[in-house]
Amino acid sequence: MLEIEDLKTNFNTYDGVVKALNGVNLTIKDGEIFGLVGETGSGKSVTCYSALKLLPKTGEVVGGKIVLNGEDITHASEARLRQIRGGEIGIIFQDPLSALNPVMTVNEQIGEILVLHQDEEIKNLASEKEIPTYKSKKFQASPGVEFTILAFCISFISLFVMLGQFTFSLPFLFLIGMMFLRNYLQRDLPHSALDLMVIDALSRVKLPNPEQIASSYPHELSGGMQQRVMIAMALAGKAKMLIADEPTTALDVTIQAQILQLIKDIQREENMSVLLITHDLGVVAETCEKVAVMYEGKIIEEASVDQIFKNPQHEYTKALIEAIPKGGKERLKVPDIGEPGAI
Ligand SMILES: Nc1ncnc2c1ncn2[C@@H]1O[C@H](COP(=O)(O)OP(=O)(O)O)[C@@H](O)[C@H]1O
Ligand SMILES: [Mg+2]
Repeated sequence: MLEIEDLKTNFNTYDGVVKALNGVNLTIKDGEIFGLVGETGSGKSVTCYSALKLLPKTGEVVGGKIVLNGEDITHASEARLRQIRGGEIGIIFQDPLSALNPVMTVNEQIGEILVLHQDEEIKNLASEKEIPTYKSKKFQASPGVEFTILAFCISFISLFVMLGQFTFSLPFLFLIGMMFLRNYLQRDLPHSALDLMVIDALSRVKLPNPEQIASSYPHELSGGMQQRVMIAMALAGKAKMLIADEPTTALDVTIQAQILQLIKDIQREENMSVLLITHDLGVVAETCEKVAVMYEGKIIEEASVDQIFKNPQHEYTKALIEAIPKGGKERLKVPDIGEPGAI
């Protein structure tokens, strides 16, 4: 359970102090999908960054209290906060590419979190299945490297054959033979326990072909896939709570619906709580049970999703409901074309 009490955050700018949050109160219970909605600039992101101490240097929490599962983390140390972020609380952002490390494969990034948060489980799995713990014994040459060596050998062999010096090409033939022999001998070597757990995390977010995705770099994946990888990272950290700041705003509508469905599924399967931040009340209607409406750094209305649509109290809430594109839920429906293969 996350409790935010009377949270106040200021920004120091050249034009003076900007009061971004004017006393925000929020309680997200265990196992709940909670929507935080409001127009751009109303303070939604600042609320989540303040709670996790992710504010830029100019921002400062000047009042209030943040309590996570009974622990007051308002003044927690940086070390403890690092444990929380990516551990108890998983975070996903609008732009997953900026949150992923561009020079590490998906396997390495998820692996890093698993080693940090689930080391016991990795070791148990390794001894149970009698497989290596962290590194598989397979020598992984990339297909590109193998192809280059092969092409190199074949050019020399043809050259020497053309020159009528067949004996000189024997070492190259030997090299090709060794390559095939190595592949043959290594064909059955097991994955490491860590590899298996990475693949498991990727299958839990319903990524097709998780082995291939594990060996990819972030930029090689589509936006929807990157967002799924971010959710897999939250799962790998054993997050009890997921904070999603506009997770689908940058995605097109069909992918948006798939990611929202995934967040709902994961919430149910893992009994996580979710704080879903969005400017789109339509997204809240699709996904959440409870919703808080934010306006100029304050929560102005909080209710169940049913209640807010049936009986909005605040004029601003009514305006937000009006702003949902006509057809509301309809526009998020995915046409039934069989298996959702394309992501
Ligand atoms: N880096 C910053 N410097 C100064 N003011 C900021 C900064 N970030 C946010 N703010 C202020 O906080 C308000 C809320 O921003 P934000 O939480 O990002 O809105 P949103 O609801 O769109 O996520 C903004 O309107 C702005 O006045
Ligand atoms: Mg924002």
